[in-house]
Amino acid sequence: MLTAVLGMQWGDEGKGKVVDILAEHNDYIVRFQGGNNAGHTIVTPQGKKYVLHVVPSGILQGKKCVIGNGVVIDPAFLREEINNLRAQGVKITPENLYISENASVIMPYHLVIDKLKGGGVGTTGRGIGPAYTDKIARTGIRMGELFDSEKFLEEKINTLLKEKNKEIKDLGGEPLETSKILKDLNELKRDRNYCLGFFITDTQEVLNKAIKKRENILFEGAQGYLLDIDHGTYPYVTSSNTSKGGIHTGTGIGKNMDHVVGIVKAYTTRVGNGPFPTELDNELGESLRKKGGEYGATTGRPRRCGWLDLKLLKKAVIANSPDSLAITKLDVLDGLDSIQVHDPIGGYNSLKGWQKDISNLRDYKDLPDNAKKYLKFMSEQLEVPISMVSVGQRKDQTIFLQSYKKLKK
Ligand code: IMP
Repeated sequence: MLTAVLGMQWGDEGKGKVVDILAEHNDYIVRFQGGNNAGHTIVTPQGKKYVLHVVPSGILQGKKCVIGNGVVIDPAFLREEINNLRAQGVKITPENLYISENASVIMPYHLVIDKLKGGGVGTTGRGIGPAYTDKIARTGIRMGELFDSEKFLEEKINTLLKEKNKEIKDLGGEPLETSKILKDLNELKRDRNYCLGFFITDTQEVLNKAIKKRENILFEGAQGYLLDIDHGTYPYVTSSNTSKGGIHTGTGIGKNMDHVVGIVKAYTTRVGNGPFPTELDNELGESLRKKGGEYGATTGRPRRCGWLDLKLLKKAVIANSPDSLAITKLDVLDGLDSIQVHDPIGGYNSLKGWQKDISNLRDYKDLPDNAKKYLKFMSEQLEVPISMVSVGQRKDQTIFLQSYKKLKK
């Protein structure tokens, strides 16, 4: 069975927790786009916290993890992430982490250019846009190429740096040197604890074999629909296809998904700049931010908060065609007198809030009537059933609904 988890808003919907729940029923967990701009926080029932950026979170459960060709990778950052996870006792070996030889490398000049240029969009400064720019311009370096002959790499970087340094100087930055870049790369490649070279493989083939063996595969989206390069709030978007199509281009697997779970936070947040029609730039927004812990997992930036926007979610439903929805952070809305929802026609609906703490509830029937009404309204408007409702950070703080059964085949 092939399952996908996709963010339906501007990212940070709480995909990490849902992926963590679904990983139990899957053999492989796959990233297909984005890079270390993403940040997934996983909290175990014992309260142990892990923050993952590029490595799929299934690694915590000893699952086989794949980083597909559509991902951009900063090899130095990846080493740090792997080392940190290993220090927390997580086993990461070439037997459970597979990196596509065709994934694009985030080079040091991409980081410099992003920092000098990404302010308008409010990027994460991780070199994502510049790395994808080079991929599309056919001037990128792929992971497999890092292990080509040193001479080839030196010539390629030398040629590329002439252009990059011009751009960096024009933007007021310090030019880089090929010798330093090569030295750092060599050090990474030769780090025997890191084993970068051993992780790199033909991931399309790895996944194809797994499909032939009827293994269960979970495709884990990063960011969300409204940050999609084609369908999001351009130019205030990320540089990859965060919606369903990205799964196929980002892995080389054409087979259809058996189940897509769309992740919808019970309210809306966005980090970085750009339009946000339901933004609450007031005390209420501030209280949602505090209660929901709405600070970026990657950059620590405060997230902008606002009401649910069904008009935009309708678009996400069209693009992602979810079979079910996971509604996250419903508990953050506890205690509100009323909840506003931007409806598909563009007007506002006001729904009554609930005064009960729902974080300890595990059964749908125990939810306050107004919370049920809110969920029902959402599901009816979007015409998608709900499979899960998250009422707290921990994995056990989850309410499963009827359509969840379809995910456990
Ligand atoms: P970039 O992906 O670093 O180029 O940033 C482009 C836009 O996407 C900025 O507004 C970022 O804040 C936003 N963004 C990138 N990754 C994430 C994420 O994982 N969650 C939420 N927003 C993100």
